[in-house]
Amino acid sequence: MAKKIVTGTEETREDHALVSAGIRPRRLADYIGQEKTKQNLKVYIEAAKMRGDSLDHVLFYGPPGLGKTTLAGIIANEMGTGIKVTSGPAIEKPGEIAAILNSLDDGDILFIDEIHRMSRQVEEVLYPAMEDFAIDIIIGKGPAARSIRLDLPKFTLVGATTRPGMLSAPLRDRFGVIGHLEYYSVAELQEIILRSAEKLGVDIDPKGALELARRSRGTPRLANRLLKRVRDFAMVRYEGRVTSKAAAEALDLLEVDQFGLEKLDRDILEMMITNFSGGPVGLETLASSIGEDAGTIEDVYEPYLLKTGFIVRTPRGRMVTPAAYEHLGFEIPAEE
Ligand SMILES: Nc1ncnc2c1ncn2[C@@H]1O[C@H](COP(=O)(O)OP(=O)(O)O)[C@@H](O)[C@H]1O
Ligand SMILES: [Mg+2]
Repeated sequence: MAKKIVTGTEETREDHALVSAGIRPRRLADYIGQEKTKQNLKVYIEAAKMRGDSLDHVLFYGPPGLGKTTLAGIIANEMGTGIKVTSGPAIEKPGEIAAILNSLDDGDILFIDEIHRMSRQVEEVLYPAMEDFAIDIIIGKGPAARSIRLDLPKFTLVGATTRPGMLSAPLRDRFGVIGHLEYYSVAELQEIILRSAEKLGVDIDPKGALELARRSRGTPRLANRLLKRVRDFAMVRYEGRVTSKAAAEALDLLEVDQFGLEKLDRDILEMMITNFSGGPVGLETLASSIGEDAGTIEDVYEPYLLKTGFIVRTPRGRMVTPAAYEHLGFEIPAEE
């Protein structure tokens, strides 16, 4: 099962370290949470195997760090096929995606991360590839140019995106299975942390794991990252044992608060309160006053602030809620 990395995104370096530590789940049974997506996948994988057929094309969407790439790898393991990994921005020309498609074996998984960032010309190669397992190649130039159809192996495209809204309708419609990944519950994160700790040989008690889980903003990638930081802290101050007290102290030092908010989350809320009287404020305006990229705020910070109920979206922009005033220690303004 050759796993070829065509390109690497920023996440892959860190996540690959986790793979070598055996932390990243390799089978569906080890994948905690996301029950609905998991149950669906299980049925489709079993059915495809029974028919001796390839799996339908799959799209995963949801905020970063929730397990989209992990699921792509799990699908390949469960199907017993190879996987090639690339990403939308890495494929620059139609010829490049054609070459990748042509290099696949029957049944292989082609994983395209950040699939919303693919160019339109590249996307157009994918349409017939996904639908008819064929690509059209233009040979020659000018009036003598002609198009020939090249058959492809029956592959499965697995796409991942943090921005489903940015996918074109024709591309979205060609996915047979769509999985929406949601933030994990505290209990699920606690289970993930306990399992990671065991693999990493970290001495942690369930209450320590619970404290970490509460502050990991529903995100396994962050939970695993914080676990390592807390382990280091516990080694120096608590003889290596991650208790709830050790975890709380370490996370306070890291400026991760009880709700899992980081400094930038709090900066966003504070900016909205002090400079925009709580909103509504537009995304671009907010981003430039914080000095952060609007896309990053929308993909990474906003979904969790919405989920925790510290901000709400209105037709006129984002607004902070009374809970945000209270959490940051501001007086809640009187109703107008
Ligand atoms: N359901 C899960 N159970 C256990 N660990 C998980 C789960 N989902 C994600 N992880 C861990 O979190 C990390 C980030 O997951 P990843 O699949 O890279 O997220 P995404 O591709 O959605 O950004 C992985 O390295 C993996 O160890
Ligand atoms: Mg990923």
